[in-house]
Formats: sequence, structure tokens, C-alpha cells
Amino acid sequence: MCGIVGYIGTQAATEILLAGLEKLEYRGYDSAGIATIWEGDVQCVRAKGKLHNLRSKLEQLETPAQIGIGHTRWATHGKPEEYNAHPHLDTAMRVAVVQNGIIENYRELREDLKSKGHQFRSETDTEVIPHLIAEIIKKSPSSLLDAVRQAVSHLEGAFALAVISADYPDELIVVRQQAPLVIGFGQGEFFCASDTPAIVAYTRAVLPLDNGEIARLTPLGVEVYNFAGDRLKKQPRLLNLNPTMVEKQGFKHFMLKEIYEQPGVVRASLEAYFNNDANAARSSQSPINLGLPESFYADIEQIQIVACGTSWHAALVGKYLLEQLAGISTQVHYASEYRYAPSPLMANTLIIGVTQSGETADTLAALAMEKERRQGKEAKYQARLLGITNRPESSLGHLVPHIINTLAGIEIGVAATKTFVAQLMAFYALALDLAAHRQSISPDKIADIIEGLRQIPKEIEATLETQESLTEQLAHQFAETQDFIFLGRGINFPIALEGALKLKEISYIHAEGYPAGEMKHGPIALLDAKVPVVAIAVPGSVYEKVISNAQEAKARDSRLIGVTPVKDGEAGEIFNDLLPVPTVDELLSPLVSVVPLQLLAYHIAARRGLDVDQPRNLAKSVTVE
Ligand code: F6R
Repeated sequence: MCGIVGYIGTQAATEILLAGLEKLEYRGYDSAGIATIWEGDVQCVRAKGKLHNLRSKLEQLETPAQIGIGHTRWATHGKPEEYNAHPHLDTAMRVAVVQNGIIENYRELREDLKSKGHQFRSETDTEVIPHLIAEIIKKSPSSLLDAVRQAVSHLEGAFALAVISADYPDELIVVRQQAPLVIGFGQGEFFCASDTPAIVAYTRAVLPLDNGEIARLTPLGVEVYNFAGDRLKKQPRLLNLNPTMVEKQGFKHFMLKEIYEQPGVVRASLEAYFNNDANAARSSQSPINLGLPESFYADIEQIQIVACGTSWHAALVGKYLLEQLAGISTQVHYASEYRYAPSPLMANTLIIGVTQSGETADTLAALAMEKERRQGKEAKYQARLLGITNRPESSLGHLVPHIINTLAGIEIGVAATKTFVAQLMAFYALALDLAAHRQSISPDKIADIIEGLRQIPKEIEATLETQESLTEQLAHQFAETQDFIFLGRGINFPIALEGALKLKEISYIHAEGYPAGEMKHGPIALLDAKVPVVAIAVPGSVYEKVISNAQEAKARDSRLIGVTPVKDGEAGEIFNDLLPVPTVDELLSPLVSVVPLQLLAYHIAARRGLDVDQPRNLAKSVTVE
């Protein structure tokens, strides 16, 4: 939610800031702005809408300034207008601030600062910060670092900041408090950003700040302090990311590239989580290695999972696997709901937070609440927290003791695709690992499932090959459709939800996912010839049931699209259109059945001429509650 960048060094800052913001636009794109210091003044340029608007404005104002900060916004407080765009300045326009997060007590601060003569120009929470810093500098102009540190002690909320001042033209101050911020180390130049893709083109040596840390960047180096003012010893580490990973590499959109990367994601997960030795797989020991300590497995009686959006859908598949394979009763909660209405405190409970970004405020808050309410209780009630994330260095990584690192690589498209498949792989590994430890299913059965998983990359490749043109053709026919229904049952019910979410997010078409058997209890009233129904019908325990439910829809004149490997018999007759998927074990079918749904959503959105990678109103990481 919002992206911030900063630069100090020997090159012209503007282009570096713009290039960084481009890589952070996935975090928000309601407005953008940059501030630099040139000839003793802060120069600030801001524009409503996407980055290209800012870029055009900047063409008339070329400055060789070698220090600057930038911001791309996802609006929280105040409309997405230019006057609310960051950077925000103090009354005398000497201090400029960009912020990612929320300042919860901004109202009181604003009233207080107004009473001291500060003039506000926006509706945002952020604007209090430059005024507060200016007020502190006015009283004791010792250093910008000190002024920012003092200002931060008045702020409540979760935030990351970058601050510059015309009166201290050789320093850039950055702060992290519950919102991500990394510092990049170059030769005589230093960078900061909300996320590494913004700086990877310049340096791979990065230092992610921890909560409660503040740093001063000058052309000579970086000093890191805690909020109490103590200097900390911290070393940068080398990033395992190269600039090409954050390029489209010939694909029209990041989303399409990321859909095509899914076979590789499954391969990477197989490699990392599963033992390659087939004999070992049939032994009584767990053939899965998730790097979890032995104590982790003891006495788990139930599992609670908290997540949002697509991660919540992955968690629903996870529930199915954990219950059916490991035999552990599992509940899945929307993180935003769980925080305010948690389940009664139960003993020996594993709590799992699933978040690809590791920064989703609702998920972090639910986990933090769970940790807190279990503190000081007897041992069996103590928090056992596990995170499943694509960003182990994220805030989630700081919050929980154990992480399963999903291996999707960086995902830029706002709509999650390959990270979803990576989360599914983490759940297959976890459920099988727990099953092995608890001996809830036989080693042979576990080995068979792993063998099935090993075939999945090529099955996804086959699906991609056949689906690309089929989904494109269907997209042509459905580009103007207003409502869609997605049906699935059992392990494919969450995939119906995910198919509907993908379509809503990027094509803005109304879509609902239902468990197929639930249609007759109400939603069937929605159906007519104008409402197509996509049914996931894979052979297995609920195949016949899904086909009957599809028949019920057909009887209400709906056009039926079947995601199924079955081309003949009843399936061949009732479906108007087929999106064939390969035959795989029902238990593994979500890994292939989701692919045509992702492609269908993609092609419909592309056909409608929409901004597939940056759909309206959304942001890739939702760091506000
Ligand atoms: C869907 C999507 C969102 C996210 C949700 C949770 O395509 O991207 O629904 O899944 O905001 O995000 P994470 O997984 O980062 O917690």
C-alpha cells in the first residue's frame, strides 16, 4: 500500500526515483510525486493518477539534484487528488516527507500544529509529519536525524518514512515502524525503498530495516539507530534477485508471464520441500523437509488459519489437505474478522498466517492478537505460529518463529497467480509432512501423492498450451458479459472462488464462486441465458454431483463452460464450451484447474482493454486494516 523511494549520491536523482517508482506502482497508483533539493530549496512535483502523468510534468523541470524522495500512492486518507499526493511539505516548504502506512493519531497532532500556526494543504494523515519535524527543528535545530527521531516518538500507527530537508541537503532520513523499508548500498550512493525491485537495477547489497529503526543516509554512508538513539551495527546482505526478474520478458503483461511461470514454481517447490530419493519417500520417516524443528510437530490438536483474498482461498485448499491427509481439524478465517472475533482459546493449536507479501495488515494483526492473548498462559496454550509467505524477510518473518518460504519469485501483477500455486505447494508439503509425523496415512500413500505432484509441472505446461487460444476465443465471446458464476465442490470449491475473484479483480465483471451443491439454496435464482456458469468437474468423489448441479444450471438456460478432462458422456453433452484440463488425481487437481480460470480472467480483461497488471482501486500489498 503506497511505495516510497529515496536516493542520495552522485547521479541525478529524478530518473532514479522515477525508475524506482515504476517498480513500486504495484503498491498503489492513485497519484505519484517526487521532491528533490536543488539550489537551497525543496522542489516538489506531484501528479494525480499513474506515474506517466508525473513523468510528463517532470519533463519541463529537469534538475541535476542528487538527493530526492518519491512516492506512489494508494489512497487511504483523502481523495486521490494532486493536493493529497506525496511528498508533503511543512508550511515553509523546507521539509519533505513520503510515508507508507497510517498515522492513527494524526487528528490530534494536526489540531495542535494548526494552533501553533502551521498551514495544512491536504486531507492526509501524512502531512502532520513534515509540520511536526519543522516544529521540532524550530525549537532545537541540532540535526535532521534527531528531529525525525523526536517526531516519530509522537506518531502512533504503522508507517515507513523517507524525509529530506533543504536545510540539511546532505542527508536522507528513513524510518521503519511496522511497514517495510530497505536500504540499498551503492558506491558513494545510497537508496531506500518499500521493496527491493525498486533498487535492484542499481545494487544488490541491501539492508532491510527492522521495526523501530531509523537511518541516516549521506553520500558517505549509512548509520542505523534505534528509536532511543543508540547506534546499531548492521551489515547489508546480497539479494538473490536480478533486474530481469522484474521485467516482462516479452509477455504483454506481468500477469501472463507469471501464469506461465507456474510450472517452474511447482518444480522449485518440489525441489525445496521434497526428498528426491524415491526409497526414502516410502520409508517411515517424513520425506518432506520444511526446516521445522521436531518440537513443532508435537501434540497439534487443531489448526487455525488466518489469511485474506487469494491467500484465503489457498488456505481453504490447505484445510482440505490438512484434514483429509493429516487428520487435523482445521478452521480458516478471514484475518480481518478473526482479529475482532477469535475462536475460543484452545490448547495445542497451530496458528498459520498465509500472506504472499508478508505485509497484509489484517493478517499480521490477527497473528499479533493471537500471540498476545496466549502470552503468560500455561504451556499448552502458548502460541505456535507458522507463516506461509513469498517474502520471508517481510514483517511476517519478524512476527512468527517459523516460516514456509513459498518459491514463486517476485510477483508484480496485482492479481495473484503464481504465488497462489506456490501457496498450494506449501500446503501439500505441510499436510504430507504432518501426515508422515502422525502416521495418519501410509508411507506408500504419501509416496504416491508426491509422485503425482512430480507430474504436475508438465500437466500445467500441457494446460497452458491448450488453454491459451481456447480462453482467448472464449474471452472474445464474453467480453461484454455482466455476471459470471463459478461452481466447484470439495477441493475445487476454493478454486471456483479464486476463478471468480480473478475475474472480478481485473475485468470488473461481477462474478461469484459457489460450492455447486449450494446453488439450489438461493443463488440459482440468478441464472438465465445472460449468466454463464463455469463448472469445475474433475473425476473423483464429487464429479457426478457437479455434473448434476451443472445440469440444474443448464435447465435455467445458462451457458455452461466446463473445466474438465472429460470430453465425452454426459460432460461432453451438457457443456457448451470446454476448457479441457489433464486428468490428475482429484487431490492434486486444484494445481491444474486454476490455470484456465486465470487465463480466462486475463484474456477477458485484456480484451476489454483494461489495465491487467494494475486494476483500479487495488494494490499488491494491503498494509492498512
Ligand atoms: C488477489 C489478491 C488479493 C490478495 C490479498 C492478500 O489476486 O492479490 O486478494 O491475495 O490482498 O494478500 P497477501 O497474500 O499478500 O496477504
